[in-house]
Amino acid sequence: MVRLIGILVGLFFSGWLLVTLVVGFIAWASEPAVKTAEHEFHQHPKELSLASDGPFGHFDTQQLQRGYKVYKEVCSACHSLRHVAFRDLEQLGYSEAQVKAEAATWQVPGIDAVTGEANTRPGMPTDYFPKPFANDVAARAANNNAIPPDLSLMAKARHDGAAYVYSLLSGYQDQPAELLKEFPDAKTPDGLHYNPYFANLNLAMAPPLADGQVTFDDGAPNDLDAMSQDLAAFLVWTAEPTLAKRHQTGWPVVLFLIILSVLAYLAYRNVWRNEKH
Ligand code: HEC
Repeated sequence: MVRLIGILVGLFFSGWLLVTLVVGFIAWASEPAVKTAEHEFHQHPKELSLASDGPFGHFDTQQLQRGYKVYKEVCSACHSLRHVAFRDLEQLGYSEAQVKAEAATWQVPGIDAVTGEANTRPGMPTDYFPKPFANDVAARAANNNAIPPDLSLMAKARHDGAAYVYSLLSGYQDQPAELLKEFPDAKTPDGLHYNPYFANLNLAMAPPLADGQVTFDDGAPNDLDAMSQDLAAFLVWTAEPTLAKRHQTGWPVVLFLIILSVLAYLAYRNVWRNEKH
């Protein structure tokens, strides 16, 4: 009796699965595939190779310094970098004194020592990078109703982060004529800008960089492509400043484990050498 009930319950569930499968398949097959402009014109990020790639990767501090300069002179007008403190810049190869002087070139929120009123003061190494807007309302008001996101973790937040940022910055273009022919309604709205690397093709950020906009102290190329790569490299660092250290600790650990395995194997051979097994 119990077995019969078991079989019936089993049959019921298998039947149920079969029915949902068939219904799902019919719905899928009968619905025509919807073609959208995003679907057809969105592009995957361009190839980007950085010194920090791969298990032996390390940071190219010269490049990070250039990326930092681009951030400071261009992106910081709209984007915060709230997880990074000025003292972290020592990892880019700056001395303690240089970091102190660099921090002082930024204005951070402070308090008037006499009146207690909010004001601003020069930054100190322990301060974090200041936010460009007082709050989200102000950020929206200044940016066509879109909030410029914080950039500290951007290289991790987006799929293929570094290559994505590089492609986005260097990928602005006019809307292709084929797109407008095929999707006349998909014209980029006023105030937005066409970029095939952005998920929905139009974003509120105007092209922030142009050839030659930032001059580098080391005389490195400063065309749009080079600056976009440097900035992407810098954002890989802000998202994971300890990457190089992790690689440095990782390899001795792997080596230690290999030696340990060899020793364990030799010990095993030794212990069992006179036994038949
Ligand atoms: C004038 C203000 C402004 C400047 C300057 C600016 N941005 Fe933006 N940025 C924005 C706004 C606004 C958005 C949000 C766009 C949207 O969601 O439509 C944005 C979005 C982004 C995004 C996120 C895209 C996504 O996938 O959501 C990245 C990455 C970015 N900016 C990088 C940069 C970098 C790097 C610089 C400096 C080279 C920079 N921005 C300079 C306003 C700015």
